[in-house]
Amino acid sequence: MTQVRRAFQPKEMRSPRPSPRRLALLGATGSIGRQVCDLVERHPERFALHAVIAGTDAAGLEAVAHRHPEAHALLANPGGTDASRAARAIDEAVSDPDVDLVVVAAAGAAALAPTLAALDAGKDIALATKEVLVMAGELVRDRMRRHGSQIFPIDSEHSAIWQCLWGEKEGAVRRLILTGSGGPFLRRPLETLESVTIAEALAHPRWKMGPKITIDSATMMNKGLEVIEAHFLFDVPYSAIDVIIHPQSVVHSMVEFVDGSVKAQLGIPDMHLPIAIALGFPERLDGVTTAPDLAALGQLSFEPLDAIRYPAVALACEAGERGGTAPAVLNAANEEAVALFLKGQRRFVEIVPSVRQAVESAEPDEELTLDAVIAADRWARAQVRASSGGTSRVRSKLPA
Ligand SMILES: NC(=O)c1ccc[n+]([C@@H]2O[C@H](COP(=O)([O-])OP(=O)(O)OC[C@H]3O[C@@H](n4cnc5c(N)ncnc54)[C@H](OP(=O)(O)O)[C@@H]3O)[C@@H](O)[C@H]2O)c1
Repeated sequence: MTQVRRAFQPKEMRSPRPSPRRLALLGATGSIGRQVCDLVERHPERFALHAVIAGTDAAGLEAVAHRHPEAHALLANPGGTDASRAARAIDEAVSDPDVDLVVVAAAGAAALAPTLAALDAGKDIALATKEVLVMAGELVRDRMRRHGSQIFPIDSEHSAIWQCLWGEKEGAVRRLILTGSGGPFLRRPLETLESVTIAEALAHPRWKMGPKITIDSATMMNKGLEVIEAHFLFDVPYSAIDVIIHPQSVVHSMVEFVDGSVKAQLGIPDMHLPIAIALGFPERLDGVTTAPDLAALGQLSFEPLDAIRYPAVALACEAGERGGTAPAVLNAANEEAVALFLKGQRRFVEIVPSVRQAVESAEPDEELTLDAVIAADRWARAQVRASSGGTSRVRSKLPA
């Protein structure tokens, strides 16, 4: 019987719980960041923005800062300024004693360093950026234990699992069941995937999200990354995490218990809800979104994951099982391949093979250190850039 230890199971915000809760928001101009800002504006008695941080979009950040003049506004990549100075300022902002909760919603690997800085300062984190746990789950876990910080998941699947686990005892869980819609190409004939355009891959049938995660949803690498995220978040072995297809995206995920009972969490596809749950925990906010009308929906359907259509899921699980820096290689190779696809320099069907090639040719460090993660990340990106989609021209191995 699987023992799920739930080392990451958050208990509650540490007391005293201030109101309004002061947030540092990484990724303030993005899809999640904008929805965090909405919730802050709808609930000024509950939340206030202490710092808003973005990558390069100065105008977008200025617009956020205009609505929240009390917040410090910082860009990670301000043109012309020393990037390491900007990085130090961001680390200071997320570690500021006035910050109660750090919301991590910056795109991809860029979120790792500030997340570690926040954990080192003992901050609790509301985490959207799954890449942080994929790249460096062990490191994150060590820092959390050392500093007594907690992570509240924002990803809708992990929020669903988290909610299903509330009130349950350790050892009661048999497996986690992550649902995935299958993205825009669930029914598309396999032989036509060769000609997928950027616009088609960006047209997700259920969720409106940033471009990187939308492409990850089309390949279902997103679900693979979520399996690794769930492994670290809930301390569950990979063998006890399953993925099934659920095209309507109403059941956000499920937990099966040792007695044969299954709990699911339902909601319309609207990220405001899992964000509000992470920000407001342990309380629920009033009227965040409308509940699904099941009679109007009529039917919720489920089907097995097609491993031929979606090889990314098994690839991510393999990298997760290998451990060490293998997931960091997977993550960086995927970020790079998706970025190249979005620039029109790779075809859609080349994304996952590029990632596989990087993962299979890497000799990952078994011991996870921050330096090893950074080296693995750089190596994998170079590997994908130098490869021509399916076939690599790079022979060198990951530096020791
Ligand atoms: N969108 C969703 O519905 C959803 C659902 C579940 C999980 N997630 C996860 O949430 C994360 C964000 O997704 P998203 O869809 O919101 O992405 P997005 O719309 O592309 O936004 C990314 C945000 O990150 C910022 N950023 C880029 N580099 C940065 C850096 N070095 N430091 C600080 N901020 C930086 C961007 O700023 P600029 O605008 O200046 O570039 C932007 O604000 C991803 O990991 C994704 O997997 C998203």
